[in-house]
Amino acid sequence: MAKKPLLAAMKKYRLDHVYPLHTPGHKGGRGADPDLRSLMGTKALEADVSLMEELDDIHHPEGCILDAERMAAALYGSDRCFLGVNGTTGLIHGMLLGSLLPGDKILVPRNSHRSVLGGLILAGLRPVYLMPDWDPEWRLLLQVTPEQVATALDADPDIRAVFLTTPNYFGLAADTEAIARVAHQHGALLLVDEAHGPHLGFSDRLPESAMECGADAAAQSTHKITGAMTQCSLLQVSYRRIRPESMEKAMSLVTTTSPNYLLMGSLDAARAQLAERGHEMAEESLHAAQILRNELKKIPQLPVLSDQLIGKGGVKAVDGGKVTILTGPLGLTGPEAADALRAEGIAVELVDEDHVLFLVTYADDREAFVRVAERIRQVLERNRRPERVLVPSEPYRTLPRQRMAPREAFFAPHHPVPFEEAEGRVCGESISFYPPGIPLIMPGEEIDGALLHFCRRMQERGLKVSGPRDVSLQQIEVIEE
Ligand SMILES: Cc1ncc(COP(=O)(O)O)c(C=O)c1O
Repeated sequence: MAKKPLLAAMKKYRLDHVYPLHTPGHKGGRGADPDLRSLMGTKALEADVSLMEELDDIHHPEGCILDAERMAAALYGSDRCFLGVNGTTGLIHGMLLGSLLPGDKILVPRNSHRSVLGGLILAGLRPVYLMPDWDPEWRLLLQVTPEQVATALDADPDIRAVFLTTPNYFGLAADTEAIARVAHQHGALLLVDEAHGPHLGFSDRLPESAMECGADAAAQSTHKITGAMTQCSLLQVSYRRIRPESMEKAMSLVTTTSPNYLLMGSLDAARAQLAERGHEMAEESLHAAQILRNELKKIPQLPVLSDQLIGKGGVKAVDGGKVTILTGPLGLTGPEAADALRAEGIAVELVDEDHVLFLVTYADDREAFVRVAERIRQVLERNRRPERVLVPSEPYRTLPRQRMAPREAFFAPHHPVPFEEAEGRVCGESISFYPPGIPLIMPGEEIDGALLHFCRRMQERGLKVSGPRDVSLQQIEVIEE
């Protein structure tokens, strides 16, 4: 059985073994609210241990945390792995802060999650944006190509890093190896948002992992697809081109001084699980996804994504564990299909204007999942409206004019104006629809009429805005001019 040094230290130091004159204040659950106690159970609250010497220090790991991080680094083939208890968001902030200097330029494809914006602001970076291709049939953003990256780096030799999100939410993976080569040939780092890829590299049927492809760092949401608790992620770093002192300093800066040991313990456990049976787990998730895909394919005219987009617009491989359907041919918008499923007790991972994404993992590979798949098919068949013709929206794929760097815009005075009157103004905030949480506009960029129109259209289709202060979009913050 794979070792779990952090979990073992926690088990040894349980609050029922000592009288705790230290944090947390609930003292092993003794003082916890009864509802919290009944939800979590006394065991979990007893295991909510704190900063004792035998439990190590995440800021200067020398004991069980160091062992857990070393084992995770070895598993993913990195020089250093950091445990992250503030999601991949926190790790992306640390990754950018630790590998670049204020004022550095970074190439950022415009399919990046909003967490990159925090990193740009904190590190004071100057983004140069690239727009990936769009597939009109599947109505999905694809990946940037190595050629696009090379052209951008040739055009601006000051770019110090390439940021890449691969695989994306829908499981579409870029040609990371070729992009790493291009970046390194130009003296730039490759920093990867691998939020959707903590399981990569454990099966030949999955895309290769970022570190295997030569990335300099990769932030992985261990909680999204593998066995860690929500919020738990790992940052993998290669110290070939990144200075260890800078990264250690940056990660300490963005990390709480009171990390939750239940969360860190779950990262240790998830790593051990992958070390022991990562291949099996990857195969199980692909198997379960295929069960659902086969069931959905029985619905006439329903497009079910598998590997159709490989070779298109920078997509090199696909994670078959993600099952995406295009809902338009059913006569349903994405939110309508998701609502129908929710009413029957099925909650899905992602909904956009005309897609529903079912996240399937190793935990679904069991007999009961066949019945879940059947139920999903039945609900969609029952709710389909073949007579209804939905006209899909034009995607908003403009690269807005950048008038200020994100950090400058973040701190600049701004005020709200009516949304409909904002055309031509410099935006003081970011707007995304969540999920997937990809900003359409970032602070410091000029608002155009097409953006306003697109946002209204998405709202009409029942999609939720994320980012701006006023999520109803009656008003929008603009920079004072
Ligand atoms: C591509 C991508 N990157 C980063 C994140 C942020 O991850 P976390 O929620 O772990 O902070 C997400 C979250 O959905 C994401 O989809």
